[in-house]
Amino acid sequence: MEVYSQWSANEERATLKGKFANDRHRPVYHFIPPHNWMNDPNGLIQWQGLYHMFYQYNPLVADGGVILWGHAVSSDMLHWTDLPVALEPTPGTADAGGCWSGITLDNGGVPTIIYTGKNGRSELPCVATSQDNLVTWQKYEGNPVIATPPAESVGTDFRDHTVWREGDTWYMGIGTGLKGGGGAVMLFSSPDLYHWTYLHPLYQGDAGVDREVYECPSFFPLGDKHVLIFSSTTRSYPVAYIGTYADHKFTPEIEERMDYGSNSFYAPQTFEDEKGRRVMWSWLRETRSREEHRAANWAGVMTMPILITHNEAGEICYSFAPETEALRGANLEFGEQTVSGDTLLDTLQGDSLELKAEFQPGSATGFGLILRSSPDGSEQTRLGYDVNTGRLYLDVTRSNSEKAGEVSPEVPAYILEPGQSLRFHVYLDRSVIEVSVNDRIYMSGRVYPSRPDSLGVGVFATGGEATLKKLEAWQIGSIWE
Ligand code: FRU
Repeated sequence: MEVYSQWSANEERATLKGKFANDRHRPVYHFIPPHNWMNDPNGLIQWQGLYHMFYQYNPLVADGGVILWGHAVSSDMLHWTDLPVALEPTPGTADAGGCWSGITLDNGGVPTIIYTGKNGRSELPCVATSQDNLVTWQKYEGNPVIATPPAESVGTDFRDHTVWREGDTWYMGIGTGLKGGGGAVMLFSSPDLYHWTYLHPLYQGDAGVDREVYECPSFFPLGDKHVLIFSSTTRSYPVAYIGTYADHKFTPEIEERMDYGSNSFYAPQTFEDEKGRRVMWSWLRETRSREEHRAANWAGVMTMPILITHNEAGEICYSFAPETEALRGANLEFGEQTVSGDTLLDTLQGDSLELKAEFQPGSATGFGLILRSSPDGSEQTRLGYDVNTGRLYLDVTRSNSEKAGEVSPEVPAYILEPGQSLRFHVYLDRSVIEVSVNDRIYMSGRVYPSRPDSLGVGVFATGGEATLKKLEAWQIGSIWE
């Protein structure tokens, strides 16, 4: 086995730069590893001012397989310096088959990772610590720190960690599925992060809805409620529950879809930064074919840093961290105008843009933005709002004229009050689209236009006239230059 901790990802990135110079789909300002495969964000933490991003990484091929922990660090959540691989499998141990997802904690000043050691079909929690400010990591000799999954767990799927402290006691939730069916998060307690006692399920899902397994739980307080996020293998998307945490059990009150886009968002992780903000990054997986991403030599992108807050109704609100404004380059502004049908804006083009657009519905039944449009409109992506149903959608069915993408779910997302505006805040970065709507709803998706001239931006209204109150646009350059 190669020794990845000896390998300099920065050099690797510099060497590989030319290789991707003509890749029209590879994002330029979203975090992405030097090359090959990335999935979940891991171990997110701000340590002595610096943001650490670890990630599930296969540096050998743009596909799953043996997974390591890649590592990058940033002072602003936007510009990253690669660090050596933090964790890699050790033959003959609990993680011989891979170092799967986990978290980083401050254990009384000692940076400590808890991750899932994969070995054959077994998945068990392992611990590693760092003596040099999170650069190199030493695995605990007593790994795994839990010898077997609890009896009611399916046993083979027992992975990913959310850990918090109450008084002198650590608590850990681990994702799994139950023998009788149904995803669950199992709760354990420990005085020291090394010795764990099983308590009971923190939360156990409805087997009718989530037959299989919960992955990547993240559990945290929000206002006077608690939030449990997990990625459901049955539904293939992440879900957030807002509810009550009492007697070490979680009772959901509101269920929310986290993403109303086109099925790329998976395995989000959250952490509290030094400003006390709940910050989230998530994996945006590829939606093109496996052959295509293998051939491209990269797969998987991180979202922008997203802040999680709540409104008066106790619903979760998603907005981009204000730090992201530092990426803004050349700016264009469009004033109030009436929109009906499709209009491409002839002065605005691009595939690396931030857009802020405010609409009022007027008599229209739908309205929104056109992105990545070819001059003749045959290829285009539509980000829209349906006034009658409250559905928000990212329509990627015509993003690539050669093949259809997945459509957004047919569910209401947001109801406008009379007189209220709808504000789209968009980050477009080559194949990546991320949107926050009224700083409340989050949407994302991936597009792979076949035409190099699919760079047009426009507005549309259907069934009547809408008003575009204002559109602001900024060009964004590469974070790696
Ligand atoms: C989610 C996931 C996790 C697991 C990791 C393996 O995408 O399946 O449950 O720890 O990826 O790479």
